[in-house]
Amino acid sequence: MCGIVGYIGTQAAAPLVLAGLQRLEYRGYDSAGIAVLHEAGEIVTERAVGKLLYLAARLELAPLSGHIGIGHTRWATHGGVTEENAHPHLGMNGEVAVVHNGIIENYASLRRELQAEGVTFTSETDTEVVAQLVERELAQSGDLAASVRAALLRIEGASSFVFISTRQPDRIVVARLGNAGGIVIGLGDRETFIASDIPAILKHTRKIIFLENRQLAVVRSDKIALSTLSGAPLEPEIHAISWDPVAAEKGAYRHFMQKEIAEQPRAITDTIRGRVNFSSNRVHLETLPLTVAEARELEKITIVACGTSYHAGLVGKFMLENLAEVPVEVDYGSEFRYRRPLVGKNNVVLAITQSGETVDTLAAMEEGKRQGAKLWSIVNVLGSQAQRSSDGYILMHAGPEIGVASTKAFTASLVDLYLLALQLGTQRGVLQGERLEEAIAALARLPQLAGQVAEEVEIYHRLAEIFYTRDHFLYLGRGPNYPIALEGALKLKEISYIHAEGYPAGEMKHGPIALIDRMMPVVAVATRDGVYEKMISQIEQVKARGGIVIALVEQGDELAAAKADYVMEVPGTTPFLAPILNTIPLQWLSYAIAVRRGADVDQPRNLAKSVTVE
Ligand code: M6R
Repeated sequence: MCGIVGYIGTQAAAPLVLAGLQRLEYRGYDSAGIAVLHEAGEIVTERAVGKLLYLAARLELAPLSGHIGIGHTRWATHGGVTEENAHPHLGMNGEVAVVHNGIIENYASLRRELQAEGVTFTSETDTEVVAQLVERELAQSGDLAASVRAALLRIEGASSFVFISTRQPDRIVVARLGNAGGIVIGLGDRETFIASDIPAILKHTRKIIFLENRQLAVVRSDKIALSTLSGAPLEPEIHAISWDPVAAEKGAYRHFMQKEIAEQPRAITDTIRGRVNFSSNRVHLETLPLTVAEARELEKITIVACGTSYHAGLVGKFMLENLAEVPVEVDYGSEFRYRRPLVGKNNVVLAITQSGETVDTLAAMEEGKRQGAKLWSIVNVLGSQAQRSSDGYILMHAGPEIGVASTKAFTASLVDLYLLALQLGTQRGVLQGERLEEAIAALARLPQLAGQVAEEVEIYHRLAEIFYTRDHFLYLGRGPNYPIALEGALKLKEISYIHAEGYPAGEMKHGPIALIDRMMPVVAVATRDGVYEKMISQIEQVKARGGIVIALVEQGDELAAAKADYVMEVPGTTPFLAPILNTIPLQWLSYAIAVRRGADVDQPRNLAKSVTVE
């Protein structure tokens, strides 16, 4: 959740750390801070409550000088949003500073133990315990890495840490315990960068080392010593990252979300590119090795995901069951391991995760593996934990997604699911001939159709003008568009703070219909598919009770348009690809309403982009 940046080299550390944090602010934005090892031999810190601009303003007034620095943007877990609780945290003697992402589950008992020894605390956080523990060890060993190793033996829970110390002012020590979000080390020319997410340092280097669970690195400006937490040396594997740094910038757009919605035709094209032979109607997912025999033996896929990615999984179920004839279950990452999931041999657990670092999804993957399932993932971030722990993966190719509300990663993951359904369907011998040809031809047309939808924005701003003051919205859909109703409602609530519910339209009469009145707009996804007529009659049921309907219909569908009060249009495609096109208007509608309400679109309150705590 929290963003971490570190720098060691020949340049001034604080401005580089601050710039890195600015690229990570989507991770957490309750408070922020920087600590620098000052030339005079002490650690100096600056912290501020609220967004980074407050920290930046303080640093402008009182710049921090030094060539080694660490910084943090916080998403509060232990302790309120105060300056005292902002990271970095220092040991009592000011010899150690730490920034931390994760949760220390046994911090209360450790705190009591340290207090009994006379250690005084200045914050309510779990993190400060680690600074104090490391400082206590340092007094004995004099070596930062050894002290971190000893301290982490006492820690329970998943966390990533970055430390500096006055005792060894030529190094940063980085350590990881469990799946609390990634840590990457970026290699520059006589300088080294550390970050919780690649975009923070992409401008400076593309040579990246991923720190794995239970690893520790002693980072100097010109060398890295990687080892296990128990001290066994390891050879670092250096990965070349191909992301374009400009892709992580806002450019001329007002918001990242706006840019990312508009980018979807490109993201869809990139996700299809190189994976489909349009002449032979073949799909080949290179990073998902699967023989025909394995595909035929596959008995079940269990999709695990959270939030928007979970909604993608629900659409994926529809695609995979129809096109590949494989049974699919979809589960929340946060629920999966707490029930008794029945997965095993000839089963696949498929994680869908933009960040590849969502702790609940990672835990569900671990549970799947423990039970003997094969692990696949659909991820946007190459090198993320989910991708690295999978037996096979499919990249989204959405490019860096910075807006906290997921948009382009959702539609890119739907394209991946469709490709998977096509590959599996052909391998299993259930998708062939004309049906396969049509499925591939529809995919070829998709980027251009998505371009048409993404370009049209005026209507959503008009609708926003009419509806932005409403307190409640209901979203209805059926079949593969039921998850799109859920996703439309999630987008609206997370960025506008308007209460919105997504519902399967056929279930309305079993309860929610009681809510219908003129004050609650009903967004009905009613493009033409197998349940189109049913959707039309559900729109009529809403109208009969005095409801206001905003219908999402296929271009030229006069019947549906005539039933609704307001209309949004998309071009026609197949029922399997319609959810992708239908998503875009709902994203634009939420965006327009949020902007009209003056909401903080890219960094909605209480949220963070990668949810790395349980
Ligand atoms: O990185 P992931 O796809 O695993 O993230 C899952 C959810 O946290 C994420 O989709 C969240 O729901 C977004 N804020 C939705 O816009």
